[in-house]
Amino acid sequence: MHTWNSDLEQLAASVIGYASERAKLAKDPRWGARDATELAEALDGVVNESGVGGHAALELFREVLLPACRPMDDPMMVSYVPTAPSIAATLFDMVVSASSIFGGHWESGAGAIAAENQALRWIMDIAGYPEEAGGCFVSGGTAANLAALVTARQRWLVRNPGDERRDRLAIIATSGAHASINVVARVLDVDVIPVGTDAVGRMTGDLLESALGGIDRQTGPTPFAVVTSAGTTNSGAIDDLAHIAPICEREGLWLHVDGAYGASVLASPTHRQRLAGIDQADSFGIDPHKWLFAPYDCAAVLYRDPSMAALAHSQKADYLDFVDPTDFNPSDYALHLTRRARGLPLWFSIAANGTDAYAEAIDTTMEVAHGFAARVRKSPAFELLLEPQLSVVLFKRIGWEESDYDQWSKANAEAGTALIVPTKWKDEVCFRICIVNPLTELGRLEALLDDMGEE
Ligand SMILES: Cc1ncc(COP(=O)(O)O)c(C=O)c1O
Repeated sequence: MHTWNSDLEQLAASVIGYASERAKLAKDPRWGARDATELAEALDGVVNESGVGGHAALELFREVLLPACRPMDDPMMVSYVPTAPSIAATLFDMVVSASSIFGGHWESGAGAIAAENQALRWIMDIAGYPEEAGGCFVSGGTAANLAALVTARQRWLVRNPGDERRDRLAIIATSGAHASINVVARVLDVDVIPVGTDAVGRMTGDLLESALGGIDRQTGPTPFAVVTSAGTTNSGAIDDLAHIAPICEREGLWLHVDGAYGASVLASPTHRQRLAGIDQADSFGIDPHKWLFAPYDCAAVLYRDPSMAALAHSQKADYLDFVDPTDFNPSDYALHLTRRARGLPLWFSIAANGTDAYAEAIDTTMEVAHGFAARVRKSPAFELLLEPQLSVVLFKRIGWEESDYDQWSKANAEAGTALIVPTKWKDEVCFRICIVNPLTELGRLEALLDDMGEE
């Protein structure tokens, strides 16, 4: 199992050959979930005492298992938040797997961590974060939100030692905040104080002020953090960070920006201004596996002052005494010890392609999303429900019932034409597209509108 032989030589050629074919986008948009019984039958007996051999297992993966997974990088997958890893990033992901890097501590993974930090520094520079800022790569936006809010609570505890209000703390968030925020609140055992949104789905400074004014400071929960969105998942709404930040500063509230989907727009000098004020946040998250062309699972949490994160997260044990705490140890900045150097594929792709290529790719996706919105706006069969703030477009086919949306969606997903699933905006069923793939063509999306527009 651990010694090289000629069979493994052939297997390596097959695995690498297959992986590069897939990276060349060899896939079928009709791929998708299969019945569990069908998959159980295909897998029956494969895990046994002597194994089936690598070639047979690879064949099973190629022929049965992978086709039972939706190719989320297909250009016509425009639902949820899809993915569009660059080819360089995908290929380098294999290198990371082959390299057995322990990315938790500088002592074991210095070379990888230095490169990851270079990629993070670029992200922090385009966000306007100061020199002392820092953070680490984590598995996803959920993990980034959790790490940031654990740190936020830590700061409140440090600032309010022995305060009895610690038993009833709260975060403040809008209903547009990602579902993971409620889960994080549950994990931290804190309340969520709701704050309203304006007509286009954004938290504004005024709305935050009125939520703060509505809290009963004697009997109510004590807020310690405000969670904003730099692009809500459902509508792409960007909270008014520039006006929210000074209020958080005045109130001693930690400002976290969930930029899992939207913070990638910082890569574009043309669109960066949309996130004005992010530089004043205490922390923000970003998912390069969503809109910054990295393969799963690549997200990051970044802190304006990482020292509080280290206080909240660093793990101490006798067997870890050898680790130098003055080094930059990524395990200090989120909930993990062992850590895959999952930022390396992003670093490699930036190094290979240059940051201008990233700006261009973001601009292309924005042009397609806004071009699509323009086409919806001028068609009498459709209603554009919201001017796109990022690359999400919400629209309605006039006269359609919920069942019409469902039918169209299922039929087109099965045919492999496109994945567009219905959502709701202001309680009304509608369609939503989210463009993160620079290969998504406006013409193909417009053809879908033509198809929906036919009576
Ligand atoms: C705004 C936002 N935050 C958090 C998440 C959760 O990210 P992940 O699925 O990487 O945990 C998502 C996922 O879509 C998101 O869009």
